[in-house]
Parts: sequence; C-alpha cells; structure tokens
Amino acid sequence: VTTEVALTVNGQQRQLKVDTRTTLLDALREHLHLTGTKKGCDQGQCGACTVIVDGRRINSCLTLAVMHQGAQVTTIEGLGTPAKLHPMQAAFVKHDGYQCGYCTPGQICSAVSVLDEIRRGLPSHVTDDLARAPQLTEAEIRERMSGNICRCGAYSNIVDAIVEVAG
Ligand code: FES
Repeated sequence: VTTEVALTVNGQQRQLKVDTRTTLLDALREHLHLTGTKKGCDQGQCGACTVIVDGRRINSCLTLAVMHQGAQVTTIEGLGTPAKLHPMQAAFVKHDGYQCGYCTPGQICSAVSVLDEIRRGLPSHVTDDLARAPQLTEAEIRERMSGNICRCGAYSNIVDAIVEVAG
C-alpha cells in the first residue's frame, strides 16, 4: 500500500509517497536522497542510521516512515554545512573521531543528542538505574554512545570530541 507522509526534514517541508513498509532510513536515503545517513546492519545493531526525530535520537532502520507523520527530522545534512560545520562536526575533525567515516554521521547525530539528553537531565536508555542523575563523565558518554558501533575503533577520539563540545 502506498501512502503520503509529511515530514519536516532539516527544516524543509517534505511530502513523500511511500510504501507503508518503507523504513524512515530508506525514505531518507532512497526518496529524499539524503545519503549522509548510513545503512549498516539494517536491524538496530550498529547505530549508523541514527537521526534525530522530534528531539530524540532513533535508529531510522527500526521505524517506518509512516509512523512519523508531521515529525521534525534532523539528519547529518541538517547539522552543518561544509562551510560552517556544526561544533560537533568540527570537534570530530579536530580529534580524528573517525577512520573510514561510515559510522560518523550516526555517531555525530548521537553525540549531539547525548549532550542534549544530559542537559535536559534525561536518563540513559541503557542504564538500569533510571533515577541516577546524569553526569558528564567519560563513562557516561561511553555508555550513552554504546549504541553506535565503530568498526575502526575510533572510540577514544570520539569521546574526546564530545568532551570538548560539552565544554
Ligand atoms: Fe540501523 Fe544499523 S543500520 S542500527
């Protein structure tokens, strides 16, 4: 079944005609040609497809486009431009927070969300202790970034970049 979905993607209103089974990831990549968002595992294991929807990061491979009618979606293309990088993008460059770069868009979308989650006092998704006050420690960052896998192993540089942006 084909249906229409209205999304605001990186500040622009977009109207899509998609099969109801189309994931948000495929809608972004195949329909809107926003190929900065990567498909790694396509089953919620790697975080390469992370985008920010209505202020929260999600794995776009695990959700259908039709479930986000009217949502605000931010992808890596919406965070900065080559001429004016987002501070997190600039910090990843400065600290060599990548090697092959395939996981980087998801890492950066996640990292931007992590700082927002900490600022808003939101608990980590992966901790058992939901009452624990979030603190910006390296361990906290590593835990919150644990859904984003980097096969090259650039983790320590990624953490350095996030620490720098957090100030
Ligand atoms: Fe979505 Fe791996 S492609 S988590």
